Amino acid sequence: MALYAIGDLHLSLGTNKSMEVFKGRWTGYVEKIKSGFSKLRDDDICVLCGDISWGMSLDESKNDFLFIDALPGKKIIIKGNHDYWWNTRTKIGNFFDEIGVSSIEILNNNSFDYNEEFAICGTRGWFYEEEKGTLQDAKVLNRELMRLKASLDSAGDKEKLVFLHYPPKFLNYTCSEMISIISDYNARLCCYGHIHDKGCQVAFEGKLNGTEYKLVSADHLNFVPHKIFD
Ligand SMILES: [Fe+2]
Ligand SMILES: [Fe+2]
Repeated sequence: MALYAIGDLHLSLGTNKSMEVFKGRWTGYVEKIKSGFSKLRDDDICVLCGDISWGMSLDESKNDFLFIDALPGKKIIIKGNHDYWWNTRTKIGNFFDEIGVSSIEILNNNSFDYNEEFAICGTRGWFYEEEKGTLQDAKVLNRELMRLKASLDSAGDKEKLVFLHYPPKFLNYTCSEMISIISDYNARLCCYGHIHDKGCQVAFEGKLNGTEYKLVSADHLNFVPHKIFD
């Protein structure tokens, strides 16, 4: 049961927002995702770190969910800033049941066991791009910090692996509150997405307070899920 992560699939199989227009690495990206996932087995787990589908509603995202469901392995999803289709866990779960999706689970205020030893934790996170310094900014950040804590707490004594959409550190931005929580819970790893294109070259990767940070956006990984554990 190997563990993988990849973010930002930005699928648009039911809408007209295909990432093909960006050319470069995005050319043929749906096929690249399919072939990137072909190395996974059905008992593997892959965490999808947000920006999953361009659909504006569950219905508009249906084809994207069916595509993801058909890929091998269990997929655990967190919300990205472009996942406008996102809804309550119950509503998403009911929709998945309705359309026959059975391999996608939602990470939101909860956690998932990985083997005896580890727990998969996470939330969307927050980033300076959005409404920096406003009251709304503080409110959203606070909510995300609480969600991360709830997820980590639900994991009990297991060693924590953190998955976010937004980077907690990028160039001269550091989200010290988020990083403190990650460190306080001694997370071994923090995978995040959101950063694309040239941003990937300057993204923060490496150790910080004992946690290994890793950018897993799909174009950065050339659409091949990053293997965390065998
Ligand atoms: Fe993205
Ligand atoms: Fe994003």
